[in-house]
Amino acid sequence: MIDSGLRDRAGRHVTLRPVDDQNWRGVADVAPRDDQRTWVPALAARYLVLTMRSDVWTSLAVVADETVVGHVMWGVDDDGSRWLGGLVIDAAEQDLGVGRAAVRTLVDWLAGQDGGGHPIRLSYHPDNAPAAALYRSLGFRPTGAMEDGEIVVELHP
Ligand SMILES: CC(C)(COP(=O)(O)OP(=O)(O)OC[C@H]1O[C@@H](n2cnc3c(N)ncnc32)[C@H](O)[C@@H]1OP(=O)(O)O)[C@@H](O)C(=O)NCCC(=O)NCCS
Repeated sequence: MIDSGLRDRAGRHVTLRPVDDQNWRGVADVAPRDDQRTWVPALAARYLVLTMRSDVWTSLAVVADETVVGHVMWGVDDDGSRWLGGLVIDAAEQDLGVGRAAVRTLVDWLAGQDGGGHPIRLSYHPDNAPAAALYRSLGFRPTGAMEDGEIVVELHP
């Protein structure tokens, strides 16, 4: 379990946990709002398949108290940079502070890996204003690069 001791605005304790035999169905069923489907897949199940087929990415369940409320994944690039991806908070659980707590928790953990000093990168669709606001407020800044039509931003923790 990855735990920075953060809470959402409902007071729930937000942690990141491995996807396991108990929680995988809940993670697979995580769904964004319909209007967000231009930016992310309709179900987090897509990310679970990707991470099962990938040597790079690892999926995590976003859990509030004991309820699965989202998905996020992380990976390490050839240059040692850490990547965060696949962030989806279930539609019914959005705007409660879970997404912010999840990203802060993963960033804290990635920043401490392997002695630290690696940039943390992610990308988002140019029209995804909520994601842009969230990442900017946490200190992520554009690298100038685009990847698959998305803006790449990075944080030097
Ligand atoms: C983006 C997302 C992960 C945010 O998760 P969340 O739990 O709803 O976010 P939080 O309640 O923690 O809000 C964090 C910040 O996001 C931004 N934000 C969230 N909803 C927003 C909205 N409707 N409009 C503008 N900004 C918004 C704000 O900057 C907010 O800051 P605040 O803490 O000052 O309110 C969530 O909306 C989501 O799952 N969207 C669909 C998938 C997606 O776009 N993922 C990112 C792909 S890179």
